[in-house]
Amino acid sequence: MFLKGNFLYTPSQTEFIILEKQYIQIEDGKVLGFFQDLPANTASSDVVDYGDDIIIPAFTDLHIHAPQYINRGLGFDEELLPWLENYTFPTEGRFSDTDFATRVYRVFLSRLKAEGTLCFSAFATIHKDATWQLMKIAEDMGLKGYVGKVNMDRNSPDYLLEDTERSLADTEELVLRSREELDRIRFIATPRFVPSTTEKLMTGLGRLCETYDLPVQSHLSENRHEVEWVRELHPNLPSYTAVYDAFGLLRPHKTLMAHAIYLSDEEKRLLKEKDVYLTHCAQSNANLTSGIMPLRENLTKGLTCTIASDVAAGHTPAMNKQIALTIEISKLYSLNHPTEKALTIGEGLYLATKGPGRFYGNVGSFEKGYDFDALVIHMDDSIEGLERTPSEKLQQFIYDGDDRNIIARYVNGNKI
Ligand code: GUN
Ligand code: FE
Repeated sequence: MFLKGNFLYTPSQTEFIILEKQYIQIEDGKVLGFFQDLPANTASSDVVDYGDDIIIPAFTDLHIHAPQYINRGLGFDEELLPWLENYTFPTEGRFSDTDFATRVYRVFLSRLKAEGTLCFSAFATIHKDATWQLMKIAEDMGLKGYVGKVNMDRNSPDYLLEDTERSLADTEELVLRSREELDRIRFIATPRFVPSTTEKLMTGLGRLCETYDLPVQSHLSENRHEVEWVRELHPNLPSYTAVYDAFGLLRPHKTLMAHAIYLSDEEKRLLKEKDVYLTHCAQSNANLTSGIMPLRENLTKGLTCTIASDVAAGHTPAMNKQIALTIEISKLYSLNHPTEKALTIGEGLYLATKGPGRFYGNVGSFEKGYDFDALVIHMDDSIEGLERTPSEKLQQFIYDGDDRNIIARYVNGNKI
């Protein structure tokens, strides 16, 4: 199969490739290569021509809370801990009702797909049955990614407080069932964050991760009060990061930690050593007055960072808007931090496509052998004399585009 159009992609943080009016060849769902002209005797039924439109890798969002979708935009006059207590926990409690959960998850996943996030890593809730529905619906919709049943057995309201053994047993059941029945959606261990997981639960999860070689996702150093609380809960461990490490929850190349704002040099050394992915949630961190992660400093130090939405603390799942906001905040931050060069548009695209896609596999680029997961974007430039270049179209889509501009979505070479 061949697609014709203007292709833009980022093989690395510093490379931004623009191929105008080319053909991409796709076989078995993967990119084979680009051609200036169609190879001789290609059947016309084998070619889709997208004309002047641009084609980019689909977005990957490695930190999003599926149940919180219904809360986006709510409660932002509070900081993290009261926001969790007053808004988030009561909402997540409702997911004990699997029918309700199924309805919400359908709407949530349809929105992700509409916005072009075709690969993701989501937190569900503590509820096993509702989590399974999220996994199953995502698989059936043709999306790819990770889903985790949240584990919490301390400092939580009684309706979200799990029995430790039960929490581990439910987790294991979902690991096994998803391996049996699903293909593109995988299970990820999901301790909510240190304050809501006992040492016994973290130990058990660390063991499950070993046994099944699971990836892990959680939250790290998001808010000053939260960091202080972790210090009080674990006075014998040197840092928040060290707590996860002590329980085998910093798995090399397989761990996602959201926020990571207030880190010591030693914590950064450890996170780099384990190649933990720091999922940077700029919009969430602004909404909950959490702080600003020194993105440039972290990237320069060789830490792996990605752009993520953190819905509902981030108010939109649209990754183009998350890229724009991350760049805007990095510019303001650079004013008072002269070594913090602002993020560029190419870097923003990378941190929302191949950067996070690497966590899943060969995802997020159009290099040979990559899964062809793509968005075809039409930006209207029909006003005479206002024709835009492919790069300009991408910039305008990132800043002011929405799902109406995405006219086709592909996963593994199939239009979904
Ligand atoms: N820390 C623990 N749970 C959460 C959550 O649901 N959202 C955010 N932003 N931070 C958390
Ligand atoms: Fe989060």
